[in-house]
Amino acid sequence: MRIVFKLPDQSQVDVDASEGQSLMRAAVDNGIPGILGDCGGQCACATCHIYIDQDWIGKIGPANLDSTENMMLEGAPVDIRSNSRLGCQIILNADCDGLIVQVPEGQ
Ligand code: FES
Repeated sequence: MRIVFKLPDQSQVDVDASEGQSLMRAAVDNGIPGILGDCGGQCACATCHIYIDQDWIGKIGPANLDSTENMMLEGAPVDIRSNSRLGCQIILNADCDGLIVQVPEGQ
């Protein structure tokens, strides 16, 4: 499937990703700048923070308020928005083909 990463400089990178892979892994494996995945997907670093495109947030969903993901986002030095997610907590499935995400500025 195709995932579109929009970068802070307004460029975009399309990557091939696999069902069952996390969004973070798809980014890291394709060298997307600003997505580090330092904790390896354990929901413990927030270096995989991304914004889900507004046209997609309804399908992907926001971070659950009671989740470890939400606690990590609130404690991280990032600009949290309503469409903020940790990429490691999004496991790609067939419905994600064409997903558009924004890499935050200065990350
Ligand atoms: S990779 Fe560390 S929180 Fe996602």
